[in-house]
Amino acid sequence: MISFVKKMYIRYLGFGLLIWFTGALHAQHATPSCSAPRLDGGFFSPKQETYSDKTRLTYTCNDGRKPTVKGWWAASTCLNGTWSPEPQCIDEKACIAPNIPNAQYRENQSGWYNDGHRIRIKCNEAYDPKGHNVTTTCINGKWSSVPVCEKDIHACGEPPQIPHAVIIHQGYQDVFAADTGVQYECEDGYTVEGGDAKKYLYCITGNWTQGPVCRTSTTSGSTERDIKPLYTKVEHCGAYPNVPNGDVVQQNDEFLKYQCNSFYKQVGSDNVKCYNNGSWSQLPICQAAFCSLDPADPVWRNVRLSGVEYIKEGEGRLISCTSLSYFSIVKCINGETVSTQCCHSTDYFNGRCL
Ligand SMILES: *[C@@H]1O[C@H](CO)[C@@H](O)[C@H](O)[C@H]1NC(C)=O
Ligand SMILES: *[C@@H]1O[C@H](CO)[C@@H](O)[C@H](O)[C@H]1NC(C)=O
Ligand SMILES: *[C@@H]1O[C@H](CO)[C@@H](O)[C@H](O)[C@H]1NC(C)=O
Ligand SMILES: *[C@@H]1O[C@H](CO)[C@@H](O)[C@H](O)[C@H]1NC(C)=O
Ligand SMILES: *[C@@H]1O[C@H](CO)[C@@H](O)[C@H](O)[C@H]1NC(C)=O
Repeated sequence: MISFVKKMYIRYLGFGLLIWFTGALHAQHATPSCSAPRLDGGFFSPKQETYSDKTRLTYTCNDGRKPTVKGWWAASTCLNGTWSPEPQCIDEKACIAPNIPNAQYRENQSGWYNDGHRIRIKCNEAYDPKGHNVTTTCINGKWSSVPVCEKDIHACGEPPQIPHAVIIHQGYQDVFAADTGVQYECEDGYTVEGGDAKKYLYCITGNWTQGPVCRTSTTSGSTERDIKPLYTKVEHCGAYPNVPNGDVVQQNDEFLKYQCNSFYKQVGSDNVKCYNNGSWSQLPICQAAFCSLDPADPVWRNVRLSGVEYIKEGEGRLISCTSLSYFSIVKCINGETVSTQCCHSTDYFNGRCL
């Protein structure tokens, strides 16, 4: 039973479709035709009672009259049942609609204006009337100086294209008035700097303000963490940390300043700060930076040492040799001693002992 109803339904549906389809075909063929135009004060060709769609006719006007389009004769086409443009013969002293680019004015449906009629125009956004002339008058079939709308020097061209962004709430325009704004929105998964998804750009004296950059949102999180202050007052970290062979020589709320003891070289920053988490920043290291001269070392058997002596890294010292008036120069270079032979003091003064 159910399958029978279904079959019937499909049959009727098919029949309905057939009727609709032939109807549509018929309608396509039946584009309305045009009847002969009513033309006062002129004549047209060809002369027929009806004209099929897309038929063209030409017409001209009697003395003292003219067509509503440029020229002494004009053409009109039958489109979907009406003549376009409508064949009209108007008074020779009337004016046909002026063409004023980038402007608007109150238009007459008929497409023409009587002698003496004045038109006041309004330039489109981002355009200014040249010479502040915003009117024109129909005088004896001609418009007096037609106003010109020129691009405002402070207007902007199309706003910059930005990767992964689109302009929203606005159709395409190639000219924007000064001081107007456009809103950009980043593609999903991207945000402008600062974390928003949207940003405005403004047209200022002919240029667009700096564009936003759409970055992947995942990086914005870490940016936020970086902005957070890392350090806090030194008192939050408690007792000053011990730096072997170094001492705190300066302190304030923000940092401690360390200095290595004599004979020690500082490695790393001498400033130590307190992190938010209560731990100290990297401490400097005070590296031994001296050479020791031990009298027990046979290297020093020719010199007189009163116990162990120390020489700072990079420095040198004149040391008495066992022979009277003889000296040796001992330098500490990279933790190693470099010494000259024992020379007589006069040779040093002559600069000869090396
Ligand atoms: C033709 O005119 C009919 C009715 O006036 C309208 O429905 C149809 O859209 C028009 N077709 C075109 C192509 O203008
Ligand atoms: C507009 O056109 C009509 C004819 O359709 C005419 O009678 C009228 O005077 C025109 N208006 C102006 C302001 O020229
Ligand atoms: C403005 O138009 C009038 C005529 O309508 C003309 O006499 C005048 O010179 C024009 N002014 C400028 C600045 O173009
Ligand atoms: C606008 O941009 C142009 C080209 O970069 C520049 O020469 C001009 O000075 C700018 N104008 C203003 C008002 O910033
Ligand atoms: C404290 O913060 C610093 C900087 O973020 C980090 O290097 C250090 O490992 C942290 N220390 C502890 C104990 O969390």
